[in-house]
Amino acid sequence: MTTHDATRDHAPDASSETPPAAGRGGPSRGQADEMPRPAEWDAATYHRVAIPHVDWGQPVLARLPLDGTETVLDAGCGSGRLTAELLDRLPRGHVIAVDRSAAMLAEAERHLAPRYGDRVSFVRADLDQERLDGLQADHIFSTATFHWIGDHGRLFRALHDVLRPGGRLVAQCGGGPNIARLRTRIATLVEAEPSVGGLAGWPGPWTFATPEETAERLAAAGFTGIETGLIAAPAGFPDAARYREFIATVVLGEHLARISSEAGRDDLLGYLTAKAATDDPPFTLDYWRLNINARRPLI
Ligand SMILES: C[S@@+](CC[C@H](N)C(=O)[O-])C[C@H]1O[C@@H](n2cnc3c(N)ncnc32)[C@H](O)[C@@H]1O
Repeated sequence: MTTHDATRDHAPDASSETPPAAGRGGPSRGQADEMPRPAEWDAATYHRVAIPHVDWGQPVLARLPLDGTETVLDAGCGSGRLTAELLDRLPRGHVIAVDRSAAMLAEAERHLAPRYGDRVSFVRADLDQERLDGLQADHIFSTATFHWIGDHGRLFRALHDVLRPGGRLVAQCGGGPNIARLRTRIATLVEAEPSVGGLAGWPGPWTFATPEETAERLAAAGFTGIETGLIAAPAGFPDAARYREFIATVVLGEHLARISSEAGRDDLLGYLTAKAATDDPPFTLDYWRLNINARRPLI
């Protein structure tokens, strides 16, 4: 097992410079009057609560044909739950677990290194920078990550360069109308409530692309055998506390990092949780997942 940090000269990092936000398991924050840096994840809580992500990821993993000897790059490995399942399918292979978040990589390493040893390496890199420092893989697997990345054309060019000829990209991320109800509620609150003013005029951290846009971008990056499609994947939570913890940890880290007061962050989470009580069924996130299959041509 090796750890390599490819972010040092080109990716900002909040994790080592900002303390955790007080009183809550949410993200740490950048300086109030600077451009906010990417919020750091509460990786241990993510590992515990991101159960929908594991359920969504299993069929994605099943789409990747493997003989067990390949090297597969997990793009945005997070805390490593699905990386472990990938490793289980590669008894004589290797996984390069890539993530921008130091906290997520540390959590992944904590779970994976004792069990998989040298079969997994950890690389801290920003997939949005078109510089993956000479990494090479037979295939790329990715779940719940691409929608956090702004420039999908650049992302797909970087991933194409990483793949060996004939290698597959098998991925899933949020797309299309993903969490549209939640996004509308946030917009409504931001308009009405100045205490969440750190969000005013901000388009949000996500790129929820359509299947058509994604197919075009993949083709422009040089991929072939392209298949893209959207599926509804609503996720329900048993009660208000678990809904709130989930959105705070998994969905709204970047939002919360932009709100300068604890009261403002509470307003946002309280408002969204109260609204979610009126969902049918209650406390449901209207997730939509964008599936991606593509291949780097042999020549
Ligand atoms: C919702 S988590 C998904 C983690 C895991 N794949 C799963 O399905 O549970 C998204 C991950 O993408 C990572 N990420 C977001 N933007 C990234 C970027 N530009 N470069 C590398 N990783 C990124 C985050 O740090 C986070 O670990």
